[in-house]
Amino acid sequence: MSDDVTRARVAALVPAAGRGERLGPGAPKALRELAGTPMLVYAVKALASSPLVDVVVVAAPSEHIDDVRALLDRQEFSADVSVVAGGETRSESVARALIGLPDDVDVVLVHDAARPLVPVETVTAVASAVRGGHPAVVPVVPLVDTIRSFNEDDAIGPTVSRDRLRAVQTPQGFTRDVLQRAHAEVDAPVTDDAGMVESLGIPVHAVAGHEEAFKVTRPLDVILAESVIARRRVR
Ligand code: CTP
Ligand code: MG
Repeated sequence: MSDDVTRARVAALVPAAGRGERLGPGAPKALRELAGTPMLVYAVKALASSPLVDVVVVAAPSEHIDDVRALLDRQEFSADVSVVAGGETRSESVARALIGLPDDVDVVLVHDAARPLVPVETVTAVASAVRGGHPAVVPVVPLVDTIRSFNEDDAIGPTVSRDRLRAVQTPQGFTRDVLQRAHAEVDAPVTDDAGMVESLGIPVHAVAGHEEAFKVTRPLDVILAESVIARRRVR
């Protein structure tokens, strides 16, 4: 492995093994179509199209691994793309994708398949911040709604000032050793990789995220994603 992170080879891991329960009945979320193309294809294309990304590893639903391989084999990507079986949780899926990364990869991005429309520029910004010396990087966006806390009895509590809050997106970027250590040592219930890394005492750096990197979670998000795709096509 090289010591020079400024020229590190970059891999992007894609946890894609979730079921998409909040989207309603149907295929696993990563395989559901947006304007006729599975969500996963958009996500892999965005990552592979970044000039900084060399390798993409998809953690697919284990019962669909052959379909996912066949699907991705039919596309043209400007990075090496491989597929492994995902796990029972997102973090297990990421851990499985980490196993078997090529030795010369020193920077690792982790990107949800459920954020198919992330702009390539956001991918590149995260990777270059890691290459620039930040061991952990997250893209963030401001909140739009007024936020209130609720107490344990579900009674309304005070409004929380929005000024100091940000929503965290993916791709999140890490030096490989930091992400591997987090997955080996941290067993806390955190929802993202940056949370795991932070519990090792590693500082997390924020860069600007993008509204089009939103997570497709509920049925309305599919309509929004298809509108973004339609707008991109006419440009
Ligand atoms: N994920 C994964 N392995 C799991 C669970 C989730 O790789 N066992 C991935 C999903 O495929 C998704 C990302 O983690 O790309 C974020 O998860 P989420 O948006 O919650 O997707 P799902 O778990 O599929 O959706 P739901 O929670 O509605 O079932
Ligand atoms: Mg989930």
